[in-house]
Amino acid sequence: MSTTTSYMGLTLKNPIIVGASTYTNSAAKIKKLEQHGAAAVVLKSLYEEQILADSGKLVEQDDMYFWYPEAIDVVNGFSKEDGVNEYINLIKDAKSAVDIPVIASINCRTPKEWPAFAQKIESAGADGLELNIYISPADIDAGRSVEETYLAIVKEVRANTKLPVAVKIGYYFSDVARFVTQLSSTGIEGLVLFNRYFRPDIDIEALRLANDNIFSAPQEITLSLRWVALLADKVECDLVGATGVHDYAGVVKELLAGARAVQVVSALYKSGPQAIEKMVSGLETWMQKHNYDSIDAFRGMVAKGPENTAAFERVQFMRRTTGQYQEAPR
Ligand SMILES: Cc1cc2nc3c(=O)[nH]c(=O)nc-3n(C[C@H](O)[C@H](O)[C@H](O)COP(=O)(O)O)c2cc1C
Repeated sequence: MSTTTSYMGLTLKNPIIVGASTYTNSAAKIKKLEQHGAAAVVLKSLYEEQILADSGKLVEQDDMYFWYPEAIDVVNGFSKEDGVNEYINLIKDAKSAVDIPVIASINCRTPKEWPAFAQKIESAGADGLELNIYISPADIDAGRSVEETYLAIVKEVRANTKLPVAVKIGYYFSDVARFVTQLSSTGIEGLVLFNRYFRPDIDIEALRLANDNIFSAPQEITLSLRWVALLADKVECDLVGATGVHDYAGVVKELLAGARAVQVVSALYKSGPQAIEKMVSGLETWMQKHNYDSIDAFRGMVAKGPENTAAFERVQFMRRTTGQYQEAPR
């Protein structure tokens, strides 16, 4: 029996990738993740702003910073302390510490200047590059649509590196299916569905914002499952299921929906890196029980067929169906 899978041209010994986070910001921590069974890691992200500040290009940016001048100081300080050279060293150190693939990550929002940096990431030895594109849906840009900016970023990065490129996106698009398929045909190798954005809450006694909603809950997996299931057959790149994968059952669900791999972060903060071992052994036990000798033997199985597709497409709860959805008690 084999739990091997492939993602963006990389062979993974199992489908569990540790997502970008503070768990992946040092070679020592990454080594530990490998020892606990991680098949690959995405490094903590470097910010586009750090790259621009480091190259003195920040001030040339358009009025993005004009209304928020403090950002320049913050980003400049940030860059000096924790800048691009450190990031390059992190890639090199991680690569010499572990045998699993190391994917670099950039948080970005514009296609300007910074994509040339992708060459340095490639030269440092990274196995791939993940772009965490984070354009707030609250941003109102008269120039171009949010979707156009995504496509422009990918085009620039693609022109600057031969590394396999993945894009991690959120779900705030007016037409998710159309945009994801369009993005998948730009020459990228992977798409991560979905990122989990910051979710501010309100403390009604202290009358202020509450920021303690940092980690996902297992129930959040359903959003990713739906879109992986609906799109896995339609996209031209590999899909990774992310957000809300907390245990082996979550891994199996994403694979049954059609994902090539999963990314996990919150599960590690909640249960430690041992969570990875449990996911791998749970997956193996489940495969044995169901007589599958490879992931390809069952990948995408529950996404197929008109009935399942219809269920994933359904948005409204139906009052009286075949009994699958019960009417709420009055
Ligand atoms: C503490 C913390 C730090 C994170 N840092 C990054 C980051 O640097 N870059 C990034 O793309 N995503 C980052 N993320 C998002 C995660 O990679 C992931 O997409 C998200 O947590 C959803 O997955 P999960 O449900 O397994 O936590 C971070 C998440 C957490 C909780």
